[in-house]
This record gives sequence, structure tokens and C-alpha cells, in this order.
Amino acid sequence: MGSEPTVSILHDPDALADAAARLVVDAAAEAVLAQGRFTIALAGGVTPAATYAKLAAPPWRERVDWGRVWAFFGDERAVPPEHRESNFRMANEALLSKVPIPPAQVCRIRGEMEDPEAAAAEYAKSLAAAFGTRRGELPRLDLVLLGLGVDGHTASLFPGSPVLREVFRTVAAVHAAAAAIPQRLTLTLPVLNAAARVAFLVTGAEKAKVLKAVLADRVMLPAALVSPEKGRLVWLVDRAAAALLPAADGR
Ligand code: 6PG
Repeated sequence: MGSEPTVSILHDPDALADAAARLVVDAAAEAVLAQGRFTIALAGGVTPAATYAKLAAPPWRERVDWGRVWAFFGDERAVPPEHRESNFRMANEALLSKVPIPPAQVCRIRGEMEDPEAAAAEYAKSLAAAFGTRRGELPRLDLVLLGLGVDGHTASLFPGSPVLREVFRTVAAVHAAAAAIPQRLTLTLPVLNAAARVAFLVTGAEKAKVLKAVLADRVMLPAALVSPEKGRLVWLVDRAAAALLPAADGR
């Protein structure tokens, strides 16, 4: 498995959003310098919205060469893009509609498709085209942003799901009975673990138990299976979410 995770504890959600925005800006600068573009998989849910808002405003907005950014999604609910539960809609409202990223470089998962399997196959094809990968090869995203569910899920990789054992496909259609919108599409663990950098963004006291389970108790929850083989893993957590973590450095 990959390198040990770096855990940064931020004072509160706003400080975490700033730290996450800085991480995106730094990762983008590094990738553009090295390869002329920056590929990022955006997280859904609520937490990342504050980070996206920071990236859409000074001082961070100006520090990203948006013309060289390619935005993907870690997962999507099986809803149309204008639906209030759409991860695309959240990211588009908070960030994508506010920065000069070329529309052709925003690769949305078409959750509105009737057949989720077809939607998964279509997105897998888009990833392969964007990364020039052939069958069996994995796209290497420069940065994947992820959230953490209170049950230990991340993206749409839920506990007990057969997709956790996926080793070949890059995108899967899943049915998560526990989720508000059960039908979903998700990047699979092989893609997350092929990334150059993965950053979890976790805030709030309600995440303290699951964060301890994943980081301290090493419970094999889906989020604990994210460990980039040749990449960096960062956990940006706020004090409320970190409340049950052993005070490693006496903090
Ligand atoms: C989704 C996300 C999901 C999310 C977690 C945490 O589509 O809902 O991909 O994995 O990151 O559920 O969500 P919050 O940030 O809203 O707590």
C-alpha cells in the first residue's frame, strides 16, 4: 500500500477550506509546470463547497491557470445536472461557473442517463480519452478530493459494496441503499489509488467517530482503503472532526 497519510488539523471549517484551496493551487502549479495541465477529481456532498467557493475568489482564483485545468468528478448521483442533489450542480454553482475553465475541460458524469451501467461505461471512456489510457490501464489524476461519510464511505464507495473489490473497471454504477439517492456512479478504488495526490476534507463533530475508526483504529472502511500506491495522501480535518484522534504530538 502507499505512503503514510499526512493529517493536518485545522481550527475550523473556514481554515480547512483555505488550506484545501492552497493545496489545490499548489498541486495545480506543480502539475502545469511538469506536464502542462492539471487534472482534478472534485468531491461531492456538502463539505467541499466552502473550498470551491475559496477557489472561485481572491486570492486563490488568480493563482490557478484555469485554462490548463481539467475537472472530473469522484462520483455522481443518478440525477440530472440541475437537480439539487447533483454533485455537478454543487461544484458548478460554487466554482466551475465562476472561473474561466474551458467547458470542454469539465468532464461531468451524466447521472441523468436512464441506464446507469451505460453512464458508467461512457464516463470510463471519457477518462480513457482524457488520459490516453488503453483497456486495463489506469488514469493518473493529479489530485482527487474526497469527503468522508459517517459510515466510512467515500465517493460512492459504501461499506459492504461489491465495488470495493473492483480491480479492473475505472467507473462503476452502484446502488447504495443507505444513501439519500441510492443510485450512483463512482470512480473505483484502483483509480483513487492511482492518483498522484488524494486529499480528504473532513469537518464536524459528527465525523469524529468515523475519523478515529479510519485513521486511528484502522477499521477497514471504504475510506481506509484509499492509499495511493505512488502518491500522497493528505487528510485535512478540523478540530471538531479530530476530537477523538489520539493526540499524537500532544496537541
Ligand atoms: C457524495 C460524496 C460523498 C461525500 C460524503 C461526505 O456524493 O455524497 O461523494 O462521498 O463526500 O458523503 O459528505 P459531506 O461532505 O456532505 O459530509
